[in-house]
Amino acid sequence: MNKKSGILLVALAAAVTSAFAQTTPKIGVTIYKFDDTFMSYVRGKIEGEAKAANVTISVQDGQGDQSKVNDIQDLFLTQGYTSLAINMVEPTAANVVIQKVSAKKVPVVFFNREPDASDIAKYPMAYYVGAKAQASGTLEGEIVAAYWKAHPEADKNHDGKLQYVMIMGDPANTDAKYRTEYSIKALTSAGIKVESLAEDTAMWNRGDAQNKMQAWLSKFGDKIEVVFANNDDMALGAIEALKAAGYFAGGKKYIPVVGVDATPAGLDALKQGTLLGTVLNDADKQGKAVFDLADQLGSGAKTLKTVVPMANADGTPNPAGHYVWIPYTKVTKDNYTQFVK
Ligand code: GAL
Ligand code: CA
Repeated sequence: MNKKSGILLVALAAAVTSAFAQTTPKIGVTIYKFDDTFMSYVRGKIEGEAKAANVTISVQDGQGDQSKVNDIQDLFLTQGYTSLAINMVEPTAANVVIQKVSAKKVPVVFFNREPDASDIAKYPMAYYVGAKAQASGTLEGEIVAAYWKAHPEADKNHDGKLQYVMIMGDPANTDAKYRTEYSIKALTSAGIKVESLAEDTAMWNRGDAQNKMQAWLSKFGDKIEVVFANNDDMALGAIEALKAAGYFAGGKKYIPVVGVDATPAGLDALKQGTLLGTVLNDADKQGKAVFDLADQLGSGAKTLKTVVPMANADGTPNPAGHYVWIPYTKVTKDNYTQFVK
């Protein structure tokens, strides 16, 4: 090799190495709480995608504490992670996160717990992956409306009104807020008169929901005609309490219970006939979209390719948008088998 080509090779190698160093993604992920059933599926998908693509990733547990999430972000930033994916505990704290990542020019993908659109708009490298919570509420309500119309006996006290209890998720989460609101809106827009007997949070948690339902059963007994839960875990907790009160045994005492997520346990309850319906919250598609975005952004990509097109905050399609919206699907005994894995 002559001297000239030797120098050229060294220069080329240096260029390749520096380009490589700039573009090798290192993704830092935080889950708001590992101990959350639905999020454990999203997390599993993100990890699986990273493994398949051989991309360096670290996934940390926020333990339901936003200050922990903030500390994890600080650590990721000092350790040179090239993109962050964050499932916030308190979505209102997004502005703090954005200040820090933008100072270091590190892209951030929020997911599942939606920050305010004004926060996303503050930073050109901020994105959100999620599902339109309003739609999940509407679909949940539609399942109940169809049942109510087909089953006049569901109006146990024959007063022409649907008496319900509502088990809510974490009130800091827009999913909880909108599912509560839109499930009932779907009933009233179907012309059904409703009466709320009780409404309280069980923080997405099965055990808490079981306790709540038990308390409501001793207070209201058979006055309760429908049980709404903002997710399947809480619906399953309510079903436990209902079973203990003699429901579902031999098909004598029945009450419609609905949830959201279509988790494997939820689908199993659908099969058993204890859960009337649920709404698929697509953990796989959400996890894949989070990984795809974090991977591309963390590699310095300027044009993004995702499984689902980019959109605006309101859901309107926009290739340069900062949102990926994964659609929900209604799941009942008529179609649940297609979601069983
Ligand atoms: C919701 C999901 C809940 C819970 C929550 C966490 O979308 O339905 O089960 O995982 O996210 O933020
Ligand atoms: Ca009634």
